[in-house]
Amino acid sequence: DVEKKVDSVLALMTLEEKIGQLVQYNGSWDLTGPASNMDARQKEENIKNGRVGSMLNVLSVEATNHAQKLVMENSRLKIPMMFGYDVIHGYKTIFPVPLGETASWDMEAAEESARIAALESVAHGVNWTFSPMIDISRDARWGRIMEGSGEDPYLTSKVAVAKVNGYQGNDLANPHTIAATAKHFVGYGFAEAGRDYNTVHIGENELHNTLLPPFKAAADAGVATVMNAFNDIDGTPATGHKVLQRDVLKGDWNWDGFIVSDWASISEMIDHGFARDRKHAAEIALKAGSDMDMEGGAYEVGLKELVEEGNLDESLIDDSVKRILRIKFKMGLFEDPYRYSNPETIKSISYEDHRKVARDIARKSIVLLKNENNVLPLASTVKNIAVIGPLADDKDTPIGNWRGQGEANSAVSVLEGVRNAAGKDVNVTYAKGADLGMGERSFLMPLKINKTDTSGFAEAVEVARKADLVVMALGEDAFQSGEGRSQVNIGLAGVQQELLKAIREVNENIVLVLINGRPLEISKASEEVPAVLVAWQLGSESGNAIADVLFGNYNPSGKLPVSFPRAVGQEPLYYNQKNTGRPYSAEHVTYSAYTDEKNDALYPFGFGLSYTTFEYGEPQLSAKEITVSGNLEVRVNLKNTGKVKGREVVQLYIRDLVASTTRPVKELKDFQLVDLEPGESKTVTFTIEEPMLQFYSANKKWEAEAGEFEVMTGGNSRDLKKTTFTLKK
Ligand code: IFM
Repeated sequence: DVEKKVDSVLALMTLEEKIGQLVQYNGSWDLTGPASNMDARQKEENIKNGRVGSMLNVLSVEATNHAQKLVMENSRLKIPMMFGYDVIHGYKTIFPVPLGETASWDMEAAEESARIAALESVAHGVNWTFSPMIDISRDARWGRIMEGSGEDPYLTSKVAVAKVNGYQGNDLANPHTIAATAKHFVGYGFAEAGRDYNTVHIGENELHNTLLPPFKAAADAGVATVMNAFNDIDGTPATGHKVLQRDVLKGDWNWDGFIVSDWASISEMIDHGFARDRKHAAEIALKAGSDMDMEGGAYEVGLKELVEEGNLDESLIDDSVKRILRIKFKMGLFEDPYRYSNPETIKSISYEDHRKVARDIARKSIVLLKNENNVLPLASTVKNIAVIGPLADDKDTPIGNWRGQGEANSAVSVLEGVRNAAGKDVNVTYAKGADLGMGERSFLMPLKINKTDTSGFAEAVEVARKADLVVMALGEDAFQSGEGRSQVNIGLAGVQQELLKAIREVNENIVLVLINGRPLEISKASEEVPAVLVAWQLGSESGNAIADVLFGNYNPSGKLPVSFPRAVGQEPLYYNQKNTGRPYSAEHVTYSAYTDEKNDALYPFGFGLSYTTFEYGEPQLSAKEITVSGNLEVRVNLKNTGKVKGREVVQLYIRDLVASTTRPVKELKDFQLVDLEPGESKTVTFTIEEPMLQFYSANKKWEAEAGEFEVMTGGNSRDLKKTTFTLKK
């Protein structure tokens, strides 16, 4: 079996070869030809000598084949490499950014997009993705909020499992699957003040109840690898955190995959002031359980000496090597090192089919926030549509950040989508109005926002004046969210709000289509227009998906996975808050409230409208008491009271009223997607069992405590109907 094979290979290895397995190189040179510079030549030599366990960013069957051959034809033990890449929301066919896709609450969709991303990855030699990112984030200022699933640990855990299953399938050795990575372990999304890479202050209670559950879910689902994080947590860099990596992840959870560092996060412990030099950083990281050094140069510099000096026990290195070999065996790389570099695989890819799926998932991810007077779906009387805004004919922004090999300018724009969908008798006009991002834009380049140029306003106003209705596409540039894209302002950047004002003066019949990677502060804008759609950065088929919703070919069913604030000063903002000792009171001052703004979100977690209406009955319980081994059913009647069929995400929240630690005022514990014809009713049944009531208690363990609980059901985290039950122990 695998363990015997792992041991037999380990037994053959020299210390240098073992350390080699713990080293990951970036393929920053052209691997299809001879290495051109010194650094690349040295790296090639190291690969040939079996001193490198994996590479990242090597992107083609030819290149991965070439690199693998260097190992297979030159090294003593011929241990194949893995090839990793950030396949975050698609490889070439681009799906909605993860935050957007989570708004579908559709776990089959989440799994399917990962499965397709895996197929396209292996067709290009990539057999390992650094995804899913399952960092809980409650702070819209943090640019990487787009890459995760929002603020809720339960929903994020569900997505984590769906993604792991989608990427890995049920057999890692299947040449159409890739290894997944749960990242970033842990706390990265809690960067103080939303500033990327910043320090994380988090107590043990919050850490266990909020941040760790998605990682536990991914570990239980068999995720092959975990990536640690750049941040420090309460004084210890995550990469050097022994308690979290060795004791919790590998110990308590008994997880047998390997931990890859984030890019240079081992040597960055020097900047943290936690390590003196690379050798010291290597010692700390390895002892703390970081198995593989991503392009940090610390392990290859430091580990050998540390062992020879007697400062590092070789058995710790052995453990890391075994973990890496285990995954390589499970991937079938020892059987066939070229399994994932097969030029034939590309022939089985149908990009056309993948785009169909991308369109379906994109439209499921759209959230309707406001729809006064049923402006949407567009009535047949609307004959003149003006499509206006800096993002209206933008074919690049919907591709989003972390776009893999998604081609620049390859998405269907809003304008194109509207034109494709509008009938012959509908006149579609367009004006950009203003630029949003200016000049060259890319992953590593700072983005320049247009804050002054309003020269396009006049033309846009004229176009709007003549239209029956205006579709305004505003929001964020693809490179406003993502890594290193933290912002202190999260409103409509640049001159967009002014443009909206100018258009409104001549035509108030506006549908605001937000293209965004993070929750935006849209209090003013959403007050000023009758309809608002959150269209995220929806990927390759963005414009067609948006048009499906605008024209009523798809009835929106998305729900926010993250709170939309009234003002940026509310951040971090999340629905599952604690009650405090002084819960909000409108009449008094000395209570937990702002004096200049409400406490709650403008649009709360779980919120999203439909073109139909749903009526919820009161939750009915099958019993008022539950025991440790028993369960109780919550039944809620749901009726489609509108005129079209629709999908509702029925949500179940629970509150533990008195506990040994303070508990949130509500927590999502289950949800169901329900499709109803007009006039149709269904009884939706949830089952509550004791494990659902567990939390990380004052006893420092997961347990449920006897007492009273509230159970709440409804269509979003704010508008809920509740009842109570008791847990007897
Ligand atoms: O996977 C990423 C990570 O999320 C951020 N730093 C770089 C890694 C590899 O590209």
